Amino acid sequence: MARILIVDDEPHMRRILASNLRQDKHEIAEAAGVEEARANLGGNDFDVVFTDQKMPDGEGLEVLATVRDSDATIPVIMLTALASIELAVESMRQGAFDFLTKPFQPEVVRAAANRAAQHAILMRENALLKGTVVRLEGKSDIYGASPAIQAVRETIARVAPTNATVLITGETGTGKELVARAIHRNSPRANKPFVAVNCAAFTETLLESELFGHEKGAFTGADRARQGLFEAAHEGTLFLDEAGEMSAAAQAKLLRILMDGQLLRVGSTKPRTVDVRVLVATHRDLPQRVRDGLFREDLYYRLAVVPIHIPPLRQRPEDIAGLAERFAKHTATELSLPSRRLSAQAMQSLAQYDFPGNIRELKNLIERAYILSVREEIGPENFPMARAPELSVAASAGNGHAQPAQSAVQFPAEPFDLTGFLEKTEKDLILRTLSSTNGAQAEAARRMGLSRSALAYKLNKYGIRASAD
Ligand SMILES: Nc1ncnc2c1ncn2[C@@H]1O[C@H](COP(=O)(O)OP(=O)(O)OP(=O)(O)O)[C@@H](O)[C@H]1O
Ligand SMILES: [Mg+2]
Repeated sequence: MARILIVDDEPHMRRILASNLRQDKHEIAEAAGVEEARANLGGNDFDVVFTDQKMPDGEGLEVLATVRDSDATIPVIMLTALASIELAVESMRQGAFDFLTKPFQPEVVRAAANRAAQHAILMRENALLKGTVVRLEGKSDIYGASPAIQAVRETIARVAPTNATVLITGETGTGKELVARAIHRNSPRANKPFVAVNCAAFTETLLESELFGHEKGAFTGADRARQGLFEAAHEGTLFLDEAGEMSAAAQAKLLRILMDGQLLRVGSTKPRTVDVRVLVATHRDLPQRVRDGLFREDLYYRLAVVPIHIPPLRQRPEDIAGLAERFAKHTATELSLPSRRLSAQAMQSLAQYDFPGNIRELKNLIERAYILSVREEIGPENFPMARAPELSVAASAGNGHAQPAQSAVQFPAEPFDLTGFLEKTEKDLILRTLSSTNGAQAEAARRMGLSRSALAYKLNKYGIRASAD
């Protein structure tokens, strides 16, 4: 049971909400506008506040600001008309806990209230433990002095204590997972599980059962019931990496969980309730996928409530030196090597490089340079990559000996489709290797470190006809 304040200028709307919420034995107070809400908040302890957006004497955002000023642990749920989705997004940015679009389903309202009430309890326990109301300056191991990264850290500090879904975008190696983990660590769920799943790593049907679980007999091979990752992440955070790859069925299930916390295992009609905060990442252009009909628009809006975009390293060269030094120090400690300086020229060559693999690549470059460098100072000769702004893909040539990279695959113009790009590159390398073995498959497979059957599969996949040997 929680004490809930409903702020709405329409008596009819207040009545419907109140009667829904009373079914869960909540205690309800009502306010017909911003002023009345302020008066109520002044003298009472509420656990949850519902507020309408547009009222004759002001806006829901003002109610939100008042609540945040008086007690930032009280979750505020915004009530909006579908047309004002941008306002909803703005209010989540300003710290609202959730938003509901009118007209509401009674069970959605009740689920939102219950989640919020539970959240309020967690926040209070957490605040007691920490001796502070909200941790605005969350600990973070996300380094970088550029304005873009500072903004990322600020957004993390702002959204971490809420339950808001966050959509993290950025190229490979920019730190999407790092951001997701930081949000979890700085949230009231920090002591509960953080579960990460890469949606691109599963086939459509496998992903569904992986995420939502399945009942016995749901499909061939399902010889016993199994809980999915959503259930495993109960009370914690689920990080859906490459979320743009989800099938229509999985998208529908995810939407339902986000709306009312109800989960359906594959092959089951009995909903289960889960309390999971969802964070998603993608390298895809999701709005484009929405336009192409591949991604649900309503789901997109739910996911994109708080967007965090991490720009590629080449767009914030001012971060390179600091990160390089940090990684150098880290490598020295980790590998128990003597500490080494990066020479000015080494820094310069890094600054000019365009880092298609972003921070991950920088980290790897530094580690490798540290291990290979014989001198006390790491010079530019330790960064051969940094001289050629392209991605080298080693293709072993004719004689079977290890050779330096023979083919340089041009770094594609942005935006690009990674899967398509990799497939094209793979097909290209297979064709070249086959041509260097005069079509002998066994030898080609050996040179590429593939089994015969793996090569046969790939030949079939790419429609390559090769002579049998
Ligand atoms: N700002 C940063 N400060 C320190 N380390 C960072 C930063 N950004 C990324 N890293 C490090 O770079 C590596 C790659 O980060 P991460 O795995 O989070 O990237 P990603 O965006 O999820 O990549 P992918 O798209 O390939 O999955 C990790 O080792 C991470 O710790
Ligand atoms: Mg990742």
